[in-house]
This record gives sequence, C-alpha cells and structure tokens, in this order.
Amino acid sequence: MTVTITHNGEIAVVTVDNPPVNALSQDLRQSLWDAAETLDNDPSVRAVVLICAGRTFIAGADVNEFGKPPMPPHLPDLVKRIERATKPWIAAIHGSALGGGFEIALGCRFRVAVASASVGLPEVRLGIVPGAGGTVRLPRLVGPALAADMVTTGTPVAAPKARSQGLIDAIVDGDLEKGAIDFALAALAHSLPLALSDRAVPAVDTAFWDKTAKSVATRAKREEAPLRALACVKSAAEADFETALAFERETFLQLRGSDQAAALRHVFFAERAAPRPPELSGASPRPIRSVAVIGGGTMGAGIAASLRDAGLPVTLVERDQAAVERGLANLQAIFDGAVKRGRIDPETAVARMAGIAGTTDYARLADTDLVIEAVFEDLDVKRAVFTQLAAICRPDAVLATNTSYLDPDHIAAFMTGRERFIGLHFFSPANIMKLLEIVPAASTAPDVLATGFALARMLGKIPVRAGICDGFIGNRILKVTRAQAERLLLSGATPQAVDAAMRAFGLPMGPFEAQDLGGLDIAAFQRKAARARGETPFAPIADRLCEEGRFGQKSGGGWYDYAKGDRTPLPSATVTRLIAAAADGTLQRDWDEAGIVDCIVLPMVNEAAKILEDRTALRASDIDLVKIHGYGFPRWRGGPMHYAQARGLCEVVATLDRLAEDGLAEHPCDLLRQSATSGTFEVPR
Ligand code: 3HC
Ligand code: NAI
Repeated sequence: MTVTITHNGEIAVVTVDNPPVNALSQDLRQSLWDAAETLDNDPSVRAVVLICAGRTFIAGADVNEFGKPPMPPHLPDLVKRIERATKPWIAAIHGSALGGGFEIALGCRFRVAVASASVGLPEVRLGIVPGAGGTVRLPRLVGPALAADMVTTGTPVAAPKARSQGLIDAIVDGDLEKGAIDFALAALAHSLPLALSDRAVPAVDTAFWDKTAKSVATRAKREEAPLRALACVKSAAEADFETALAFERETFLQLRGSDQAAALRHVFFAERAAPRPPELSGASPRPIRSVAVIGGGTMGAGIAASLRDAGLPVTLVERDQAAVERGLANLQAIFDGAVKRGRIDPETAVARMAGIAGTTDYARLADTDLVIEAVFEDLDVKRAVFTQLAAICRPDAVLATNTSYLDPDHIAAFMTGRERFIGLHFFSPANIMKLLEIVPAASTAPDVLATGFALARMLGKIPVRAGICDGFIGNRILKVTRAQAERLLLSGATPQAVDAAMRAFGLPMGPFEAQDLGGLDIAAFQRKAARARGETPFAPIADRLCEEGRFGQKSGGGWYDYAKGDRTPLPSATVTRLIAAAADGTLQRDWDEAGIVDCIVLPMVNEAAKILEDRTALRASDIDLVKIHGYGFPRWRGGPMHYAQARGLCEVVATLDRLAEDGLAEHPCDLLRQSATSGTFEVPR
C-alpha cells in the first residue's frame, strides 16, 4: 500500500495505490490522514486532487476488517478531516467509488469522474448501512429522495447519470489527473461551495417517509439493512448533522456484528472465490469468439439470449425449419420481454436478434469456437448430436452439454476428441439466472475447463465446478428438498403449511408452489429413469398426482387447484384425499414453522455434506452459491452450509438424529458428524 504526494504547481496530487481495489484498510486511512496533515501545512498547495492507481477509485471499507474491532483513525473521522482540510480536495474517480470510497468523495469539496466510472453506497448488500457519513451527507447533496433510493437499494449510479443528478460535478474526457487538476484550477477562481456538513437537507413532504418505508419493506422482505438505512436518511433530515452522524455510526456498528451481515459477507467472498477453483491454476482458456446452440427450446433460447447479451454471435441449430422458426420466435419473445420490462431498448433488441443465425445445417459449425447442446434430455438423441459435432467442428472447438441429469461421460462415450467435451449446466430462465454449474467429464482437458469458467465471466454468471452424479450439486439437493416436503405431508403437514413455512424462512416460493409452476412431469420422468436403474426415488404423492394428470399450473392443477387464467394456488380436495390415502397408518403430528423448516433444510445440509464427502463439490461455499443463485435460497442466510454453521453443527446433527429416529430423515453422514466437532465443514483432500 502506498499513498504518494506529487505537486503540479499549486495543486497537490494524492495518489492511493492499495491493490486490488484500494479498499480503506487501517494503514490506508492513516496514510490519508497523514497526507491531509502534510498538505494543510504546506503553504505552496492551494488544492488537492485525490486519485487512485489501478483498476478503480477507493471501492470501500476493507471488508476483511469487518470481523475485527474498529481501529483508528476511524473512517468517519478521516472523512471529516478531509472535509475540514484548509484546502479543497477534489476526488478524481475512475472505476467505482463505492461505500467508504464514495463517503471519502463526499468529504471532498468536489467530485469529478471519467464517463465509465460509477458511484454508490452498496452497504445494504453487505447487510450494513454506510458508516462514515454517507446517509448524512448524501441527502445534503442531492435531497432525501435520491439518497433514500441509493442507500436502500445499494445500486451504483453511472457517471453520466450521476452528473445529471448532481452526485458529481463534472465528467472528465481524456486524462483524469490532468482533467481534475484543470478543474481544481478553475474552481479556485471562484468562491468555494459549502462543505456538505454545513448544508441543510432539502425538505420533503411528510408522507414521503411512510410511503418510502412501505415500499422498502416490501422489497427488502426480511433483510434488515434497507429499512435501517432509510432510518438513517430520515434522521439526517430531522436531526442536526452530528446527531445524525452518531445515529448512523451506531446503526452501522450494530449491523456490522449481525448474523445477516456475516452471511452476506460470506456470500461476497464466496462469489469472488468461485471463478478461481484451485484446479484451474495454470490453465488458460481457449478463445470464445463465436458460439452455436443446438436446440432452440426453453433452455437453448435462454442460453442463446445470454450469449447475445454478452455480445457473442450465435448460430442456433434445430431439427427442421419449423423448429428453427420456433426457436427464433422463442428468442424474439425473450428480447421483447426485456424491452417491455425496460431492460433494453427496442434498437438493442433488433441488434440482438440480428446476431443470431438459425439453421438446420450442422456444416455451418465448422469454424465455431464453442457449441452448447440443449436438445431433449435423451441419451441417444444427445449422443447423435455429439457424433455429428465431433465430425464437423474444429478439433479445438469446445463441445458442451446442458444436460440436467444424464451422465456427461455416457453422452461423450462414443465421441472422438473427448478432451474438448464438458458439461455446462444453465438454470432456467438461462438469460436471467446467475448460476452456471461447470461439470468436467473424466476426459475434459484443463484448458477446456478453464474455458467454461471464462464463458461464465463473459456471461456475468457465477460459476461453480460440480462433479458428476445424478443431478450434480443443485438438483441432487433439490431431490432431497422435495422428498422431505412429501415426508412432511405424510406426517400431518399440509402443502399450504409447508410452502408458507419455507416462504417465511426466506425462499421466494415453497416447494409445492415451485413444482406447480415448473411442472411435475420432468421430475416424474427422471424418477422413471431412476427406477429403471434400480433406484427407489421417494415421491409417493407426486407420483399419484402425475398418474391423475395433475402436472401443475399448465394442466390446471397439481399440488393445488387453479381457477382458469389465475395462478393463485387453491387448496385441493383431490390432493388432501391422495395425501390421506398415502399417509394411512403414519403417525400424524402438529407441525410449526420451525419444525417444518428443520425437516426440509437440515436434510438438505446433510445431502450437501455428502456432496462434499464424495467431492462432487470442492468447497462448502460453492454449495451455498448453487442454492442461492440457482434455487432462491435467501442470500442473507448465506446459503445452507453457512446457515448450518452459524446455527451450530452440533445442534444440526442432534436435530437430524431426532428426525431420523422418527423416520423423517436420514442420520447425519460421517462428514457432517466430524465437522460438528470443529464447527466448520471439513473438506476431505
Ligand atoms: N474490501 C476488501 N476486499 C475487497 C473489497 C472490499 N471492499 N472489494 C473487493 N475486494 C477484493 C475482492 O475480494 C477480490 O479479492 P481477491 O482477488 O482476493 O478475490 C478483489 O478485491 C477484486 O474484487 P472483484 O473480483 O470484485 O473485482 P472487480 O473488478 O470485478 O470489481 C468492485 C471491483 C466493483 C470494486 C467490486 O470488488 C465491489 O463491488 N466491491 C465491493 C464494494 C463494496 O461493497 N464497498 C462497500 C464496502 S462497505 C463500506 O464501505 C462501509 C463504509 O460505509 C464504512
Ligand atoms: P425443450 O423441449 O424445450 O427444447 C429442446 C429443443 O431441442 C427442441 O426445440 C427440439 O426441437 C430441439 N432438438 C431436439 N433434438 C434435436 C436435434 N437433434 N438437433 C437440434 N435440435 C434438436 O427442452 P429444454 O427444457 O430446453 O431442455 C433442453 C436440455 O436442457 C435438456 O437436456 C434438459 O434436461 C436441460 N435443462 C433443462 C432445464 C429446464 O429447466 N427446462 C434446466 C437445465 C437444463
């Protein structure tokens, strides 16, 4: 870490260099404090430009310090020190000025930025509120409405918009340091604006706070930080500066030690570790300049849309011309939907479609870098596709399957050049869902695995390496979720009670509502295949529902009944009858929400531990990412593994043992029992 001071006439330039993102570690805070002292005492200096080396301006407080006691100089004091410097400071921003970084910029008298920069207060995403005056100075700069929006959503604002909203004073074209120095010289020719702490907060009407609190609460669901952040902005509007600052700091310190903040920090670091599994070291990805997708159904169209969103040209291959037209129509519907939701403008949608070539001719793939297969989930159909691809594509082209449950090694069994074959498991809708399970086959070359990870980066997805087993990581755990949900029904719970308990736990939907939405037929098909392999999947009631043609919303009923044209789940007398018949003789008990959650979530944790045990996943945090980004597990709970550790693995083991003794779950696996002694998941080497 270095902070250097250089001089350009009467302007001093303070350059921060603290890789990778110039986070405000204790030694950086001290060095900036020392720089402010030095420059205040230097009569040759009339203004100070604060600029950063590397890829970004100061990206915030150092998240690594959040688990430790705060060390002086504290950030709020540093921001004040800069604000009260005897010469004006000008923040020169590139990359991102986030959190504490933006708070430092708010302590500066001016802010200038390159057009590609962004500014924001993303603290709520880490389960905290700004802790260095952000909620107190921001409403003084841009008013309470914009300040409330920024701190409760945490969404950064791009420089051009930030300029129009008054968050920054100027956009610099060309060299940032020179532009900031020129800006400083020009500013010195006029009287200086008041420091933000000396300004008043513009008034808002009294209804604003209640109205905003309602919408923030709806959005935040059970996340604590957004409403607490709003309370800080309200306090800034109602109390004097120092009182509001103290209120903000107290809120920040309280939340910093909260369970939600610990969970969100865990996810933050897990997401950053995921793209770099240890086995990738040394392998360089193959270039991806063009991609083909085989199959333009639900998944193929979604994958193609995601590729187009990343700017890649796509060839879409289908069985016949009518299917090509259907595939292109699926894509058009995706982009039309994006326009309707305001995600892209109509011109962009046209450009996205123009980059897709539909064809039935595999010969068109002779020079394609990557091919992703998303045809029917049928081993013979997939094998036939890969035989053709292996014959036509360049020997170095990467060939990937999006299979959900088939064994990639079986798909590639008869293919030539198997080192270029890999599983890339997307989640539906593939253009929206962030998860990508990357499944190397036994034959996959290291640079092909690296290409999978490089693709995830290009698509803005969270990559998780998964080993081969039935369902990989995510769907294997999903099977347990569903089986446990049915066990609950057999022992006295209702679908409504189970769904309500899981929603209360933080999932967007309960397991039965989710099956009705996605359709019960796919899982029934998989169970049939499993039985053919000699396995005994447990779904006594789902099997009966499928026999009766109740496949979910698409057939007018599944676990619930549905009125025509209405997606509201209604209790079903048929389902009650089927449950009663299946439960005949099973001990009925009263279930409360906590009991239901334990009976579903803790067996999921046990399955996840088995997944670590057999090395289908290499890190517990990867499993957390799979459940959060593929299945809606609440981020603020940190994923199932973090949840279990935070709760205490001894308690998890004891509860599972009790459930097992009642015939409601399996006993904990060896790895879970062993991990309980240390309190964290031990991954076998
Ligand atoms: N503290 C510590 N380390 C951080 C960090 C932070 N605030 N932000 C990023 N890093 C680390 C990452 O862990 C990663 O480390 P690794 O290479 O060892 O895995 C490295 O920096 C690079 O991060 P990314 O891979 O995310 O880099 P990108 O270039 O893709 O993104 C970024 C850069 C946009 C700055 C992104 O890192 C980011 O959003 N960071 C978090 C910003 C944030 O949340 N700031 C607020 C912090 S809370 C705060 O400031 C409280 C204050 O109000 C008191
Ligand atoms: P789908 O039935 O919607 O689409 C399959 C498409 O493949 C059809 O358009 C069909 O015409 C085409 N096709 C079939 N054989 C072909 C061939 N030989 N050449 C070219 N095109 C061919 O199926 P869906 O849901 O898109 O699934 C595709 C694959 O993705 C399956 O392996 C499935 O298991 C997997 N998957 C599905 C998910 C889902 O939620 N639907 C999630 C993740 C993976």
